[in-house]
Amino acid sequence: MNVLITGSEGFIGSHLAEALVRKGHNVKALVLYNSFNSWGWLEQIDKNILKNIEVITGDVRDEYLIRKIIKKRIDVVINLAALIGIPYSYRASKSYLDTNVYGLLNILNACKDFGIKKIIHTSTSEVYGTPKIIPITESHPVSGQSPYAASKIAADQLALSYEKSFNLPVTVLRPFNTFGPRQSARAIIPTIITQILRSNTLKLGSLFPTRDLTYVEDTVAGFINSINNKKNIGEIINIGSGFEISIKKLSEIISKLMNKKIIIKSHKERIRPKNSEVKRLLASTKKAKKIINWKPKYSGKKGFEHGLKKTIHWFSKKENLKFYKTNIFND
Ligand SMILES: NC(=O)c1ccc[n+]([C@@H]2O[C@H](COP(=O)([O-])OP(=O)(O)OC[C@H]3O[C@@H](n4cnc5c(N)ncnc54)[C@H](O)[C@@H]3O)[C@@H](O)[C@H]2O)c1
Repeated sequence: MNVLITGSEGFIGSHLAEALVRKGHNVKALVLYNSFNSWGWLEQIDKNILKNIEVITGDVRDEYLIRKIIKKRIDVVINLAALIGIPYSYRASKSYLDTNVYGLLNILNACKDFGIKKIIHTSTSEVYGTPKIIPITESHPVSGQSPYAASKIAADQLALSYEKSFNLPVTVLRPFNTFGPRQSARAIIPTIITQILRSNTLKLGSLFPTRDLTYVEDTVAGFINSINNKKNIGEIINIGSGFEISIKKLSEIISKLMNKKIIIKSHKERIRPKNSEVKRLLASTKKAKKIINWKPKYSGKKGFEHGLKKTIHWFSKKENLKFYKTNIFND
């Protein structure tokens, strides 16, 4: 398959690009244009893999450019390009709509005009808001508790509307919090690990929300299983580990795995507005099993800790940390 990945230089995108090349697909990787000519995390992948990836710089917000890219021998488009930070979405919400919604619109229109065989759009568990029922199935109502979540709800609906209106072969994959090597230092697990590497005191936001944390290898497998599948067209599919843990407990487990005694403090400037914080997330993955034959390999507490150990190992290497500004707290 000729697969175009947008957001390919990011955390999940770079792992997915590697995995798809290993599976024998031809990967075109859209990287957000920047004046440093940086290909983000793609620059850190195995050189023998990278040489098989066609890197294209661009921007999903550019309708003309997206049409030009999708016109050229693409079978599958996987849309991962997005602005993803929740705190930054409080400050820069318009840019979230521009990228996450209008960027997707450009992709969908081009896919419609050029007969693309499959479009996999990436949603997020944040769209559920604080759940009314646990575990969260795909039929759970959505509630935008941040501009980020709201932009993703709009994008998901837009993607599904193109299936209903134009028979476009769209599927919406909805990962719960994913973690692993190369994740943004703004995310919770890299934040905890890098703070523990530096000090004995952890400065975090709210300690009581729970999350379903999925190891990146599992998330990538969810995308791969979604490519050659017809049953998932017009469907939303959760990708999660089915294991729920609070931020406090998570910090304790990481400190134990890193052999360091820590003091955990909740800092006001890191706490999200009360009604914006999603209090719990726990995925039901029954539909993923049924439709795309996917289940997490890193499941339960044991699987989770296995993923954590790999992540800690990666973040503990100085050569990897040089890509992060771990001493600076910003949104
Ligand atoms: N990481 C998670 O826990 C998680 C959970 C659920 C869903 N998701 C979704 O998965 C996708 C990938 O997330 P990630 O964690 O890899 O984040 P990431 O920030 O590492 O990757 C997003 C990529 O999109 C690119 N991008 C941003 N604006 C762009 C534009 N205008 N044009 C082209 N590219 C642009 C960025 O450069 C970046 O490489 C996102 O859609 C996100 O919403 C992530």
